[in-house]
Amino acid sequence: MLDEKLIRETLQTVLHPKLKKSLIDIGMIRNILIEGDVVTLTLALKSERSPLRKGFADKIETLVGALPDVSSVQVEVVALSKEEFARLFPKAPLKGIENIKHFLAVASGKGGVGKTTIAVNVALALANQGYKVGLLDADVYGPSVPLMLGLSDTLEQDDNMIIPKEKYGLRIMSLGMTAGQNEAFIWRGPLVSKMIHRLLGQVKWGELDYLVIDLPPGTGDPSITIAQALPDCSILMITTPQEVALADVRRSIALFNKTGHPLVGLVENMSYFLSNESAEPINIFGSGGGEKLSKEADIPLLGALPLDLELREGGDNGVPLMVSEPNSSTGLIFQTIAQKVAGRIK
Ligand SMILES: Nc1ncnc2c1ncn2[C@@H]1O[C@H](COP(=O)(O)OP(=O)(O)O)[C@@H](O)[C@H]1O
Ligand SMILES: [Mg+2]
Repeated sequence: MLDEKLIRETLQTVLHPKLKKSLIDIGMIRNILIEGDVVTLTLALKSERSPLRKGFADKIETLVGALPDVSSVQVEVVALSKEEFARLFPKAPLKGIENIKHFLAVASGKGGVGKTTIAVNVALALANQGYKVGLLDADVYGPSVPLMLGLSDTLEQDDNMIIPKEKYGLRIMSLGMTAGQNEAFIWRGPLVSKMIHRLLGQVKWGELDYLVIDLPPGTGDPSITIAQALPDCSILMITTPQEVALADVRRSIALFNKTGHPLVGLVENMSYFLSNESAEPINIFGSGGGEKLSKEADIPLLGALPLDLELREGGDNGVPLMVSEPNSSTGLIFQTIAQKVAGRIK
């Protein structure tokens, strides 16, 4: 007797060439309807104009048309939904980052708030604690990690993968180190996301406990690309105390709340200034911004860093504070932040 079961059994042999599975089993043939001697069904493909459509439709029509009591077969081709497509054809994991345990992106709404300074020194503090740490400069518009770590712009390759630079116990990669390469890098929207995928996928990061990622300011393409490529990435949010800075940080927090990325903590930078070790702290940029944001967005405040001349000098001369003076008062704050970050990511 002609029924749906018979049609499903008949179509078991129609396989997807790439997936090597039956179209029936993976749900690409659906909505089988029998009305008298007419059979209609839906064929869901990547797109309605998929080059596979004709081959599949012919095969289905021949097989079902040969069944007794069938006079005509109608195949309607539709596109798979985005979710269905992603489930059926999952993207291969990026090769370069296969062996990285945790990702930590340092983000903020604005430039000049100390993201790179904090990314570099927190990465070093994590390395001091015995973790294997990489540092990816994803600030494609203004890569400043090479300057802060005193790195040259030569890179080596090994079977088509870039080898990250080693310095101060970190594995480092930045587009700022590619200036000397023969490829010219020009930054436009679609290229940015492509380059970020390369920085993750075609760099031989190897085994790491943490990859610290220095994001460019704001909520543009690079941040979104990283967020999409790394759904498990934790975010360390940087702010400064003054009210005007908070609006941008709020927007950045909203982005990562929307993408579902865990906000591991907040750091307030340039919180205060000590004219000498025993002096009263001076709140040059006002106070309370970090605490206010922490309460409002329910993100723990992991630390407040002072305006520190040596921190700035370390950034300019390529020897970061966590290398030259890891046990200074500011160095100890970085150590605490790193400990809290590690504790919260595990
Ligand atoms: N706490 C600080 N004390 C003194 N200088 C700082 C401090 N944080 C950052 N800086 C300096 O401010 C400038 C901007 O910092 P940077 O880390 O490049 O910010 P971002 O990456 O957010 O643009 C750099 O010259 C840096 O050395
Ligand atoms: Mg920066």
